Amino acid sequence: MAKKGFTLWFTGMSGAGKSTLAERCRDELLERGLGVEILDGDIIRTNLSKGLGFSKEDRDINIRRVGFVCDLLTRNGVAAIAACISPYTAIRDENREMIGRFVEVYCQAPLEKLIERDPKGLYKKALAGEIKGFTGIDDPYEAPKKPEVVVNTAEETIDESVAKIMRTLELMNYIPATETEQEYSEEEEEEIKKRLSDLGYI
Ligand code: ADX
Repeated sequence: MAKKGFTLWFTGMSGAGKSTLAERCRDELLERGLGVEILDGDIIRTNLSKGLGFSKEDRDINIRRVGFVCDLLTRNGVAAIAACISPYTAIRDENREMIGRFVEVYCQAPLEKLIERDPKGLYKKALAGEIKGFTGIDDPYEAPKKPEVVVNTAEETIDESVAKIMRTLELMNYIPATETEQEYSEEEEEEIKKRLSDLGYI
């Protein structure tokens, strides 16, 4: 039987915490003995998707490519972690269909917070009109309607968000449960379970 991995798909606007959480989740999964690979938008765009821009067409090509690689990795037992804005629901869902073992993590934070953080100074440029078609400013971001996980990075700590994601992977039976101390409350545990139950997983 083929080995089975899974794809952890982070989506959200620039600065919402996708790359940070992807790296932290990678460390957690490595510690648990899994093979892990991160496909981060900023890095993918310097090699696999070099030359692509930010029109809808180019973003769709980019996200399909990342999905294709995630599928290859997933079917070979690797935990593939995608961290791309991936603003369009239809293409994310295409990848979900293709990959099957797909866990969508919506990194949510109010736009005002993202503008305030702005670690790359890109929102400032977009608001000044120096970058056109910037996600959330003058380009769309379609939030997922049924993500397996929602992390609110303006309110939760990184540890809390990571714990939520790991617990979801455990409950979906993609990783074995551990006995380590929980970073979340009973309430959060119930919330995670309710979401997965609403989605028909448990
Ligand atoms: S996606 O839309 O195709 O999923 P991706 O995640 O690969 O985007 O790349 C997003 C990164 O590109 C941002 O974090 C930012 O650093 C940079 N970037 C440059 N121009 C734009 C733009 N117009 N919209 C969004 N991100 C941009």
